[in-house]
Amino acid sequence: MCGIVGYIGEKNAQNFLISGLKRLEYRGYDSAGIVTLDEKGKATLLRAKGKIANLEEKLAKAKRDDHIGIGHTRWATHGEPSETNAHPHKAGPIYLVHNGIIENYKELKAELSDFEFQSETDTEVLAALINSFYQDGKYPLANAVVQALKLVKGTYGIAVASEFAPEEIVVARSGSPLVIGVGHDETLVASDASALLGHTKRAIYLNDGEVAVIGKNSIEIKTLNAEPVSAKVEEIETNLAAIQKGGYDHFLLKEIMEQPESLTETLRGRVNAKEGTVHLGGPRLSVEELRKIRHLLIVGCGTAYHAGLLASYYIEQFTPEVTVEVVIASEYRYRSAYIPEDSVALIVSQSGETADTLACLREIKKQGVRTVGIVNAIGSTIAREVDGGTYVHVGPEISVASTKAFTSQVIAMVMFGLTIAQAKGVKGTMLRLYVEEIARLPEAIRSVLETVPKTVKRIAEKHAKYEHAIYLGRDTAYPAAMEGALKLKEVSYVDANAYAFGELKHGPLALIDDRFFEVVLLPKGVLYEKAVSNIEEVLARGGHMVVVTNVTDFDLPVEDVILIDAKVEKFAPLLMNLVSQLLAYYMTVCRGLNVDQPRNLAKSVTVE
Ligand code: M6R
Repeated sequence: MCGIVGYIGEKNAQNFLISGLKRLEYRGYDSAGIVTLDEKGKATLLRAKGKIANLEEKLAKAKRDDHIGIGHTRWATHGEPSETNAHPHKAGPIYLVHNGIIENYKELKAELSDFEFQSETDTEVLAALINSFYQDGKYPLANAVVQALKLVKGTYGIAVASEFAPEEIVVARSGSPLVIGVGHDETLVASDASALLGHTKRAIYLNDGEVAVIGKNSIEIKTLNAEPVSAKVEEIETNLAAIQKGGYDHFLLKEIMEQPESLTETLRGRVNAKEGTVHLGGPRLSVEELRKIRHLLIVGCGTAYHAGLLASYYIEQFTPEVTVEVVIASEYRYRSAYIPEDSVALIVSQSGETADTLACLREIKKQGVRTVGIVNAIGSTIAREVDGGTYVHVGPEISVASTKAFTSQVIAMVMFGLTIAQAKGVKGTMLRLYVEEIARLPEAIRSVLETVPKTVKRIAEKHAKYEHAIYLGRDTAYPAAMEGALKLKEVSYVDANAYAFGELKHGPLALIDDRFFEVVLLPKGVLYEKAVSNIEEVLARGGHMVVVTNVTDFDLPVEDVILIDAKVEKFAPLLMNLVSQLLAYYMTVCRGLNVDQPRNLAKSVTVE
């Protein structure tokens, strides 16, 4: 949530700050601001409510050739989206941009009674606190920052500049990511490495509790307790093409259509279809350790949680001695749940920065339970803190709605389950069938994405005026239905909910009327006949149904049928989910809404 950028070097700082903020806009987009300093420390502060385009309008009248500056794109936590609440916040000569939440800001504010606060934000309190220790440049900026941070409770990634020190920026992190880009005669700062692409490929990822003083050609990192830190410079793996729309109108459509390739990346070097085996090195568990596993705890939020749920249905089919428990991170972190012996926790997160998921990871580690990350963002906090992990390698996901990550998270977890089953010596053709289907899945996805979009678009146009939708499924189609409903509601704002078909009679059937349409995911399988009876029950009550199925002779009189004609069966719900993703996309386009940046949301939820 929110994006931070900073620049110090020989080039125009405003240019980098604006281009960097545009790259990070998907992380928060209710207001934005930048401040730059000239050689004498004269500041140019620009802030605007709304999109970065509004900030650019202001910038057109305030161009400067300054070489140092910091910027921010905001997702409001304290105080409404407005220019006054936008960052950077100023306190005396200090300018501050901040991601995260200062939890004790009210107490700190009460202590700073001399300061005239302009905004409702927690960030301005931190700026004033730093200023109180800075005493108009009497002490080094870094010392003032450290003194202030020692009093702070909460999370932060910050960048601080001062009119009295226009040759340095101070950055620090605790719970909110910050990366320093190492360039030639320039040093850059960002909360996400994508903002650095095109400028440098060399990056230092700051750890919690570290503070860095950066100059044009210098980076000095220490802990809050003043212990020096020797920084590791890492290569940024992403390339520019991966963060551009590549000819698509929206990132969401691009990311849906990328799935044959992104899943191929997830499988690369990990699946041996000939032998019917999988191999995952990243979890760093020996065969003996895998054999001992009795309980899998899967933790995630939103789409990552749904991916865990769907994976659990598969994993319990081929690892019979293992119980699988899937939990929502924001709930689990405050429960007093008992984790049995011989457990492994899978920590699932596309961004690797989700605050609740990270909190669970830390809590679970405290209990001595082995943790394995199922993460996309390389070098992210979760990826670095887990004991081992499997990157899903789907490349950057820019659209706020998660799509390609879901598909790969499910398969990465299924592969982890298969690894356990292999270690436990599960025999027979069952494992082989799963592995063969996994190997065929990228092509099956390609075939669906080549054939269904036109039909889905037509159906979306027909349903664009509905305000309510119900997604229905049984067995593996149920978690897929949950994911479909989440996708539709978050981008099209249609009130969509998912139910296990068998639950309808226990309440939700009362909803069925002309205001609703139903999306049914109907795979072949043992519960097919039962699901067909459920469909009849809904039809008898006037349902308006879209059925997505791989059963070629499905012939009930529903309004719309989308046939998934692909050669995988076990993972058919993943293919049906492609239809849900496309339906959400086209409905949103028809309703004229912001596809990639839905209202009130942000890509990476780094606050609780
Ligand atoms: O980065 P994470 O996978 O940890 O994010 C978890 C959720 O915030 C995320 O999946 C969210 O639900 C998406 N916007 C759904 O499309």
